[in-house]
Amino acid sequence: VKLSSFMPEIQTVVHEELARIISSLKAPPLLKEAMNYSLLAGGKRIRPVFLAATIHSLGHDWRTGIAAACAVEMIHTYSLIHDDLPAMDDDDYRRGQLTNHKKYGEAMAILAGDALLTHAFHVLARDHHLSTELRIEALQELSDYAGAQGMVGGQVLDLLGEKKALTLDELYAVHQHKTADLLTCSIRIGAHIGHASVAQLEQLSIFGKQIGLAFQIQDDILDEIGDQSKTGKKAGSDRQNEKNTFVSQLGLEGARQKLHAHTVLAREALRRADVSGNLLEDLTDYMITRDR
Ligand code: IPE
Ligand code: IPE
Ligand code: MG
Ligand code: MG
Ligand code: MG
Repeated sequence: VKLSSFMPEIQTVVHEELARIISSLKAPPLLKEAMNYSLLAGGKRIRPVFLAATIHSLGHDWRTGIAAACAVEMIHTYSLIHDDLPAMDDDDYRRGQLTNHKKYGEAMAILAGDALLTHAFHVLARDHHLSTELRIEALQELSDYAGAQGMVGGQVLDLLGEKKALTLDELYAVHQHKTADLLTCSIRIGAHIGHASVAQLEQLSIFGKQIGLAFQIQDDILDEIGDQSKTGKKAGSDRQNEKNTFVSQLGLEGARQKLHAHTVLAREALRRADVSGNLLEDLTDYMITRDR
């Protein structure tokens, strides 16, 4: 299967499943509307795509990972809603439309994020595609990588690093936790569902970390030179907030070199993981060239 058909297929299936998940909630209609507003606005669904591609590359049916993929995307979307709040990055556009708090107000945006975060764990806990053992494994991965030791911790480091100089090592810690952790988590959950060996899980985790770093470096580059009509968010946000990014520390050329270096490391780990087909390799290439 080719990435050019696999990616849109995952995007469509995940979109439909997410819509179904929210519509089945017995909750205040305005809350459901605010959740749907960001969730169904059309992100790239890159984490679900990695999760599904990992399962497929291990020779299993990616459809057993649908609920897990939706759970990861719900956590990711909550992180974006909160990331855009005035108390954090204070951004007005996301996924090609006004940010959640610009549309629904800060209180509803906070609560829509809370609800997406909480319900993600329901979706995994009740996932009938997976054995109880796999469900618990996935729940542990998601709570570890998305929480204080993972993405939330990274967001804290990102905020504490504003308006002061971080060392390159400190910047790596920000990027690893705020972004690479959730990507690594998606790949690890896919690896568990695809019955990866211990050695494969280890190499796929390294792959996830390297691809995640590359992903955030490209995000930094796009914040500098990206086109809002493609990225769906306004460029220059990092500069305005005096964030530490690979571009602020190393310049555009330096950031591009690091992007390349981490995709090379990602490819090496992927080769050692010894999975079949080209899906994950092609996703790695997509990282370098993406403009949205
Ligand atoms: C943006 O994530 C925030 C980062 C962690 C880099 P994406 O670039 O995956 O955003 P969507 O999901 O496509 O909107
Ligand atoms: C966000 O990093 C990482 C998250 C956990 C949401 P950024 O703040 O750079 O993401 P964008 O550029 O707003 O999408
Ligand atoms: Mg941020
Ligand atoms: Mg931001
Ligand atoms: Mg950014």
